[in-house]
Amino acid sequence: MKDVNKIIVTRRWPEVVETELRDMCGELVQLNENDQAMSQDELKEALCSADCVLPTVTDPINADVLSTDKIRCQFLGNFGVGYNHIDIDAARSAGIVVTNTPEVLTDCTADIAMTLLLMAARRTGEGERHLRSHSWSGWRPTHMRGAKVSGKVLGLVGFGRIALAVAQRAHFGFGMSILFFDPSPGSNQRAEAFKAVRCETLDELLEKSDFVSLHCPGGKKTYHLIDDQQLGKMKKSAFLINTARGDVVNSEALIKALQERRIAGAGLDVYEGEPAINDGFYGLENAVLLPHLGSASEETRVAMGRRVLENLRAWLNGEPPKDRVV
Ligand code: DGY
Repeated sequence: MKDVNKIIVTRRWPEVVETELRDMCGELVQLNENDQAMSQDELKEALCSADCVLPTVTDPINADVLSTDKIRCQFLGNFGVGYNHIDIDAARSAGIVVTNTPEVLTDCTADIAMTLLLMAARRTGEGERHLRSHSWSGWRPTHMRGAKVSGKVLGLVGFGRIALAVAQRAHFGFGMSILFFDPSPGSNQRAEAFKAVRCETLDELLEKSDFVSLHCPGGKKTYHLIDDQQLGKMKKSAFLINTARGDVVNSEALIKALQERRIAGAGLDVYEGEPAINDGFYGLENAVLLPHLGSASEETRVAMGRRVLENLRAWLNGEPPKDRVV
């Protein structure tokens, strides 16, 4: 086993996995008991003082944090599948091994994408606000008509694990036709199970879909992939669902499109600059807003923690961690 000086966990984890980490590494472990998010300076300090840091998706381990030549950290075990908050090139240059937690959150994130899709289409957030504000005067044929989901066309941007899990739910559960746009060549084979049809361009997918659900990674390549021009390609009756990363969508452009009813609605779990949210979203009845709940089930969060431990254990034993990204 490698001889390490300290293992810093940047946020609270489910208790059971904190206990397992302590059982595994004892006094080397420094937990974040009050669960305050660490500042950039604190993250820098952590990377300069500990051999292992276990951050999560809200910790900006950017080029600035990684810029100092006093970095001691050798292992970054991210609690989360997305790692666009880590400057991968800078981590590589600093010789740090980076791991993530794929697979274990696929089902729950797909469930949240379907939740948002259904909520946005059937206006359920709006309906609940209506009822709780004592405004409901009773059933009537014209009341709160939303959009039917069954049998509609779902366009998936990205066709990785989570998109496939959404396709399975949408196709087999709701009889939806599946379109996808994904530059990766492996996608056609995976598409067969759902009779999914590849779109050659993003514009084609946006033009043909009744629901567009984003499943691409965040980062420079996908920054504002959905902007004013792309929203303009969508049907006026269509909905945008984002469980990927906030900055894949230009929020100003989306707010304007929703205000002007150039698209019918949106279901969002992630936001540019979260947890700060563009104020424009709050007043929109046609937007369903969740606080980044994709992986937030007890079972999944425990599984994510255990996946970090598996990667850490392998690295400490000098074996290749299963989920190494750098
Ligand atoms: C991740 O793991 O990247 C998710 O966004 C957290 O749910």
